[in-house]
Amino acid sequence: MLVSTTHTSPFSPLRLGPVTLRNRFIKAGANEGMTPDGMPTKALVKHHRDVAAGGVAMTTVAYGAVSPQGRTFLHQFYLSREVVRHLRVLTDAVHAEGAAACLQITHGGSFTALRPSSGRPQSASSGFNAFGFLHGILLQQAMSETDMYRVAGEFAQAAVLAREAGFDAVEIHMGHGYLLNQFLSPLTNRRVDSYGGSTEGRSRFPAMVLRRVKEAVGAHLAVGCKLNQTDAARGGIDAKQASVTAKILQDNGADILTLSGGHNIFSPWALFGSPMPLADMRAQARGLGRIGVWALTMQQPKALAFRELYFLEHARQVRRAVSMPLALVGGVKSLAAAQRVIDEGFEGVALARALIHNPAFVNDLQDARVISSGCTSCNRCVMGIYDPSGVRCVLNDDNDPGLSKRLAAD
Ligand SMILES: Cc1cc2nc3c(=O)[nH]c(=O)nc-3n(C[C@H](O)[C@H](O)[C@H](O)COP(=O)(O)O)c2cc1C
Repeated sequence: MLVSTTHTSPFSPLRLGPVTLRNRFIKAGANEGMTPDGMPTKALVKHHRDVAAGGVAMTTVAYGAVSPQGRTFLHQFYLSREVVRHLRVLTDAVHAEGAAACLQITHGGSFTALRPSSGRPQSASSGFNAFGFLHGILLQQAMSETDMYRVAGEFAQAAVLAREAGFDAVEIHMGHGYLLNQFLSPLTNRRVDSYGGSTEGRSRFPAMVLRRVKEAVGAHLAVGCKLNQTDAARGGIDAKQASVTAKILQDNGADILTLSGGHNIFSPWALFGSPMPLADMRAQARGLGRIGVWALTMQQPKALAFRELYFLEHARQVRRAVSMPLALVGGVKSLAAAQRVIDEGFEGVALARALIHNPAFVNDLQDARVISSGCTSCNRCVMGIYDPSGVRCVLNDDNDPGLSKRLAAD
């Protein structure tokens, strides 16, 4: 093993609430696109089994919608009794490889391509629906307090089903522009009641969701939250606000926070610290979706160079505000970066693209077969979310002759 014995090693165990992880590496939730009819497939099971066999301590199944209305598009799964049977196959496969399994539970709010029967998807505030517009859904509706209690109950019920499916942990998605981020972000929460205004007010509904989930499963499952420390957009969440929210989540019993950033609408490139694959997106866009790609092309900074640990500066501020376990996500591509995360005082190392490129990345690091990932941060894997065959690394395709040309085009 290459790591120094004077430091805590990223390969040392970590306790999170009722769960002990075999090391510090966590596969971050990365929408797999492997639930074509809203049902987990064998491909999804294989994806997570491979990552578990490849050495991570815990693998996160992404975007488990807490209700049909919580989906962002049709081919996603939502938690139901029927889905539990299939997810049990997945958790058994992960456990057989010695890893733990986490389910990300989430609700898209107004970030949805699906028109609800009421006509308007719900969010923190009423008004124009920027993402919905691309799918012909012009407006969104502010949630009432009764709506909030109902949706918090859906999160709790989803967590109960996750436990029945054999998961060891759930992660409540509070980042990236989905419903709970729509409450946390001043860009999308314009409420004047006690669920808006200050950072404390905007954190109130997400904290309520956390409490309900903890009450439902906290004795048995680790309960984490994925949090934006920056929306990477003017007037959005910054590290100061995220630190206040992190303290509130700590006080409400979260076992770990995964610190992320970026926003699906205002700054998708910021999630990844590198440009979106505009040429591929243009080729795939249909109808009003073309306007979305055009807007993205206009918005995306021209000079955007990837660097490892691109959220580290923000995360240091949140680190100072709380004493609870924190995982850092965003640009972990090498053993040195993983060790740096731990040395900077974070307990967990969360990563997505390096594992999409090579599911055995963690074992390969530990056994010194590699010191860094071959992932180029081209973000073409992201297009796989919408592909019936699911997410894959295009660099692993040996039958894609146009690839190098397209890499050059962006
Ligand atoms: C294909 C893909 C799909 C993603 N889907 C999700 C998702 O469903 N939920 C989520 O919280 N983050 C999602 N992410 C973001 C990742 O969890 C992570 O925050 C981001 O990729 C940065 O980490 P990395 O540099 O290790 O890839 C996705 C990332 C990728 C590459």
